[in-house]
This record gives sequence, structure tokens and C-alpha cells, in this order.
Amino acid sequence: MSESFPNTRLRRLRRTPAIRRLFREVDVGLEHLVQPYFVVNGSGVHRETSPGSGLWQVSGDVLAEEVQQMHRAGVGGVMLFGVPDAKWTPDQPLSKPLGEYLSAIELTRKVTPDAVIMADVCLCSLTEHGHCGVVEEHRIANDASLPKLAEMAVLLAKAGVDFVCPSDMMDGRIGFIRKALDEGGFQDVAIVSYAIKMASALYGPFRAAAHSAPAFGDRASYQMPAHNRREALREIALDVQEGADLLLVKPAMSNLDLIRDTREHTNHPIVAYQVSGEYALVRAAADKGLVDFERLMTELLVSMRRAGADLIVSYDARRRAGLKSR
Ligand code: PBG
Ligand code: ZN
Repeated sequence: MSESFPNTRLRRLRRTPAIRRLFREVDVGLEHLVQPYFVVNGSGVHRETSPGSGLWQVSGDVLAEEVQQMHRAGVGGVMLFGVPDAKWTPDQPLSKPLGEYLSAIELTRKVTPDAVIMADVCLCSLTEHGHCGVVEEHRIANDASLPKLAEMAVLLAKAGVDFVCPSDMMDGRIGFIRKALDEGGFQDVAIVSYAIKMASALYGPFRAAAHSAPAFGDRASYQMPAHNRREALREIALDVQEGADLLLVKPAMSNLDLIRDTREHTNHPIVAYQVSGEYALVRAAADKGLVDFERLMTELLVSMRRAGADLIVSYDARRRAGLKSR
């Protein structure tokens, strides 16, 4: 089936908008998008970290309203990050700092029973040191972190989330969390594994919003180096084997090849995370008049779907759904 000009003229199928629409191979609709929220203590809190950043800090009462509106608008779901005032110390149960956040989830679940709620599982927003695992002697201790991550997952499941999303990058956490969920009676709560999460320069705006910047060192001893494709495939294989339901890749824009690899190596649903820095790049370029925000955003989201992503976590979901900016 070799094609050649002049029998083949690809422009025939591009001639009019209606024809182009007919042969569009992938689309990005609200149903494919998941909006992150940063859940803080208090009430009546509803702030975007800066105009157009897409990073929303909300208190529980506002979260419940927002999730209801997003669900009604047809947005695929929300991804929650708890940002409590008080940090956790190792002598406490995690339910202590997470108390208000968990109540916010319970309220949201009650107000909108059928909205899809995903919640991050990680320690970086909860600890003074800002690392994603437990720190022992200035090192991030893998195995000591697992019970705490599992404890957090079970608390979130109890509060009513549909998906728990471990983003910590400790080895073995998917299996450990799966077992804890099952033992807690939460067989139906699914795990979105941050399977390929690069140690990236694109997380800055998020860390400011989530109060999760590391107080010393960096995350390179647990997050993946951007240089490694084979290692990414091993991450995927491990998480599949440990029982991940969905596989997440991030940042999205700089890892489209790995999204495609994941599509070809597994039959699992794939989530692409368009991270805070990716969003900020587009926003900044548009503010400078260099690019058209709407067009570039759609182009990027489409490229993620084309690479093989089923869902996209994006700070643009809320804006696309037409919710007010305040
Ligand atoms: C932390 C976490 C990060 C993001 C999601 N979970 C940041 C980090 O690893 O420092 C980044 C998301 C974004 O930038 O939008 N576990
Ligand atoms: Zn973390």
C-alpha cells in the first residue's frame, strides 16, 4: 500500500472545516480532564495563586461547591492535594494534620456523590522538611515511608475518594498501599500510580501552592532522571505488577514518547499530568503576546491524547468548564 502523488492528495481531506472534523483522530473534551485543587484549612477560601495560574487554593466549603459545579459542567474529575496549616511530626497519626482536609473530602462526597474524586498520596505537604517520604538521618527512608503512605491512602479512602494517587516515588508503595486498602475493606478504591515522574524543573508553581518545597537537597534520589527511557519502562512494569489501576506520566509535554511507550507496553488506562510549570510556560508566553493561549493549550492537550493518554490532569480544566475566575 504505497502512496504517491498525484493519486494521493492529502489536502482533499483538509479542504473544509466539516471535512477536517470528520477525520479528526483524537479530541480533548471536558470528560478527559481532571482539575487539581489545593485544599487548605478555614472557610470561604477561594484564591488562585496568581491571576490565570490555574492553581486554586480552596477551603472545604468552597471545594464542595466547586466539585459540584465541575461535575455538572461535565469535567472528568478532580485531583485533591491537602495543604494543612500544621505539619505532621512522627509521634502523631496522620489523621491529626489531615483532619480538616478529610472532613472537606467527606463534605464534598456528600454534596456530590457521583463526582470522580482523586486524591494525592504523599508526605511532602505534610512534613517540615518537605520531602515525599520519611526522613531518617538526612536521608529519605524508603521502607519506613511505606506504612505512612498506606495510612494516608486508607484515610483518604475512608473519607470517600474514588482514586488514591501516590506521587511519592518510593519503591514498593503501590503493592503496599493496595494491600492496606484491601485489608481496610477498600477493595474498590483504585490506585493511580505516578509511574513515571521525572525530577523536573517544572514543578515550581505547584510547590508554592502546596507548601511542599524540600527544605534541604532535592528529589533526585527518588524521582526519575529525565534521561532514562528504559528505566521508565521498568517503573511501569513494577507498578503494573504491584497492582496499579492507572498509570500516570509527568510532566506530560516533555515525555510524550514515554506516554506512547506506556500505551504500547500495557493495556492500562494512562493519565498524563500537564504540570504547573508547563501551564505557566504557556501562560507567560501568551501574556507576552508570543502565542495564542487557547490555541497552544489545545494543541498541547491534543498531543497528549494522541500520544496515548486517556485522561489529562490539567490546570486548564476549570477554565475550559467556564467556571468564574472570581
Ligand atoms: C509532590 C507532587 C509534585 C507535583 C505533584 N505531586 C511536585 C514535586 O514532586 O515536587 C507536581 C505537580 C505540578 O507541578 O503541577 N508529590
Ligand atoms: Zn511529594
